[in-house]
Amino acid sequence: MGESTPELATITVDLGARSYPVHVGHGAVSRLDGLLGEARTIALVTQEGIPALVDAAVLGGRRVERFLIGRGETAKTLSTVGELCSGFAAAGMNRADVVVSVGGGMVTDVAGFAASAFHRGIDVVHVPTTLLGMVDAAIGGKTGVNLPEGKNLVGAFWQPRGVICDVDALATLPEREVRCGNGEMAKYHFLTGDDLAALDEVERIARCVEIKAEVVASDEREGGRRAILNYGHTLAHALETASAHDLAHGEAVGIGLVFAAELARALGRIDGERVDAHRAVVGDLYGLGVDIPDVASVTELMALMGRDKKAIGGLTFVLDGPNGVEPVAGVDPSTVSDLLASLIGR
Ligand code: GLY
Repeated sequence: MGESTPELATITVDLGARSYPVHVGHGAVSRLDGLLGEARTIALVTQEGIPALVDAAVLGGRRVERFLIGRGETAKTLSTVGELCSGFAAAGMNRADVVVSVGGGMVTDVAGFAASAFHRGIDVVHVPTTLLGMVDAAIGGKTGVNLPEGKNLVGAFWQPRGVICDVDALATLPEREVRCGNGEMAKYHFLTGDDLAALDEVERIARCVEIKAEVVASDEREGGRRAILNYGHTLAHALETASAHDLAHGEAVGIGLVFAAELARALGRIDGERVDAHRAVVGDLYGLGVDIPDVASVTELMALMGRDKKAIGGLTFVLDGPNGVEPVAGVDPSTVSDLLASLIGR
């Protein structure tokens, strides 16, 4: 890990001239002023109901223009990005100014995309207020919005100037949001073998950030290795869509991790003991469900997985195996559908 005190850990996402710090800890928001440089105007993008972490005191007396965006996937659109950019223009913002996003993954995705496009790109600092945002969405520069045709179909890689993970924001996090973060934590567990559950909260979040930072630094634009961050996500995305988002993202990822392990066993990549380890980590350590709920038929799930934007040349899964977790293209669809048929609603 980078610099660390009992209260605050700082991890660097190492991207050469575009490297940036991620500050993790209680009261980390005090580091925000130091990330804003010469900016005179701050566009604060947030939503109703988000913890009020960022106030005038941590913005160093700069002029603040506040933008509230709608909640949920239906507001994650190009028109929201357009409204934000119009608002930035009306506020007279220029390339020396900074967008500060405060909220969950939806806010950091939308604000980051608006920042990437306004004046062909202005700086953004993310202040994620959910566990999922801290350990995943705010780190690594993925931004974007949905189209009617699918989730996250339009976006840009736009690395932030810095990220502030103030753990105080999690004190009032709803249970469903905690589960979303836990699904991603279970994923990191298998990428490294670390027993993250044994760490205290700040250390655990900092370690997840460190794991993600290392992967992003090795493959910023997902030419290959970065796809391991989607471990468990192929079936998870299909289940989320099929259940009309009744299943929270983290719950779906937990189920997807166990399914990916079963699939890896069916393909002879891992043994039953390793599958049991997945069930134990997801189910016992992180308290998530491990069985595939009966929310869609095999045919529907196969169609949804085939539409995954990461699918190139047939079904692509991220699978465990002798070389660790890695993307595997061209998985035989009949192996997948037979396995699904044997596991759904079990
Ligand atoms: N959430 C996966 C990634 O950032 O690549």
